[in-house]
Amino acid sequence: MAQNGTTENGLPQSPIPPPLPQPCKISEIKYTKIFINNEWHSSLKGKTFPTFNPATGVKICEIEEADKADIDKAVEAAKAAGKRGSSWRRMDVSSRGRLLHKLADLMERDRSLLATMETMDTGKPFLQSFFVDLDGSIKTLRYYAGWADKVHGKTMPVDDNFMCFTKHEPVGVCGAIIPWNFPLLMFVWKVAPALCCGNTVVIKPAEQTPLTALYTGALLKEAGFPPGVVNIVPGFGPTAGAAIASHMGIDKVAFTGSMEVGQLIKEAAAKSNLKRVTLELGGKNPCIVFADADLPLAVQEAQKGAFYNQGQCCTAASRVFVEESIYDDFLRLSIESAKKITVGDPMDPCTSHGPQIDRQQFDTILELVESGKKEGARLECGGYAVQDKALIIQPTIFSDVKDHMRLATEEIFGPVQCIMKFKSQEEVIERANNTHYGLAAAVFTRSVERAMRVSSELEAGTVWVNCYNALHAQAPFGGFKMSGNGRELGEYALAEYSEVKAITIKLNDQLTV
Ligand code: NAI
Ligand code: MG
Repeated sequence: MAQNGTTENGLPQSPIPPPLPQPCKISEIKYTKIFINNEWHSSLKGKTFPTFNPATGVKICEIEEADKADIDKAVEAAKAAGKRGSSWRRMDVSSRGRLLHKLADLMERDRSLLATMETMDTGKPFLQSFFVDLDGSIKTLRYYAGWADKVHGKTMPVDDNFMCFTKHEPVGVCGAIIPWNFPLLMFVWKVAPALCCGNTVVIKPAEQTPLTALYTGALLKEAGFPPGVVNIVPGFGPTAGAAIASHMGIDKVAFTGSMEVGQLIKEAAAKSNLKRVTLELGGKNPCIVFADADLPLAVQEAQKGAFYNQGQCCTAASRVFVEESIYDDFLRLSIESAKKITVGDPMDPCTSHGPQIDRQQFDTILELVESGKKEGARLECGGYAVQDKALIIQPTIFSDVKDHMRLATEEIFGPVQCIMKFKSQEEVIERANNTHYGLAAAVFTRSVERAMRVSSELEAGTVWVNCYNALHAQAPFGGFKMSGNGRELGEYALAEYSEVKAITIKLNDQLTV
């Protein structure tokens, strides 16, 4: 007889699936101030700004607003923390890794709370915050924790009379300006490699979503990072953001956001101290479905690409090219699937599609939907707001989209899938590449040869084959063309956060001691 809870062979009975994680009750937001030197500061100008819950329109709390003078204060703290002889600078590199692991442990401990806060501030479905955003953040921290004691140089075989080698040193004070679509994940994508390489950081979260960044300030302090190593300065773009981009005391700036602001940041960097710039801007990403693809898989992944995070992704699959012979079937299955998406309150773990971030984005998306109708694309489903107050847009599909339409050329940043027809491989590669953007692309086919050929010819920093949005901390991420400069994640990001120093020693055989 099997014992209670075990099977005949003594193994545990197949467990009942664990209950779905549930959001926490948050009665008060504890961290609303500017985080400098591991302390909480009021704004020097005495200003605050509100942050809202996009699902309800209700104000969550007021946040202290950083402006130029607060950025100066944060930069001073970051400089002091990273100067020669400081505890951070002298810290054994393995200990840096241990601190990053400790931060990951604390995020794991507070996972439900961070996921709840992220959903309150962004409106993204709770399970997505809990599993995807938190998982990605924790894994990225652990990935760079592992690199901390492996960032080393090389020895160069030069003339016999010299010894020549390289050392990788921190760049210095790294500024970061991040967006609202993945607030915690973008925070970690910037901060983890910067700390791994021994830099100090001044980071500005987006004005729409400061909460999880500020909470992480408290976790950084609890983990034991020395004061000033990470400073968090909530505020607006043209004030706090611009002050970071043009600051003479900041040695590098990393930005994720719109192409227009990316251009401003590069200009400000050039006109101030020529600080290094890495940019991750938008995309108008092609998703190509060949007739030999696994059709249900392609429908599902293309749809995930278009609607994930309410379409607010730089990687959004907003141009879906489908081969002529399967176009009708692909369209029919996509419409059926889009109509089944559970739309509603993002705190409800059953919801998979919530509100857009704010009224401005919501209006821009609906204006682009109208442009699609006017320009002659065919609206197959959605295209309207579900509950006006909640900023929810019903997942939308357009067919018969033509390459010149605004739907096919402008970044929509909303739940709008644009489906287009193609006849040949050569034609579709040409059309897919016909954009200033070059962030991501996908190809669906059962032919290995075609997958190899097409992925080589697509002008994009990331190409997915038979999948979409498959991101890993180990793989570099960034854009070709106007989608950006530099790479985040993976070993490649280490180069963006290190200076290389070549040391050459003359070997003088005559020297006597
Ligand atoms: P944005 O580029 O204005 O904002 C992103 C960040 O840049 C925020 O932290 C903002 O405060 C800051 N910023 C704004 N103006 C600045 C300035 N002059 N100097 C320095 N920092 C500045 O993006 P926004 O207005 O939120 O969204 C507009 C469009 O940008 C979206 O519709 C979408 O197309 C694109 N976008 C792309 C993102 C991506 O993941 N690549 C993320 C967010 C937006
Ligand atoms: Mg903007």
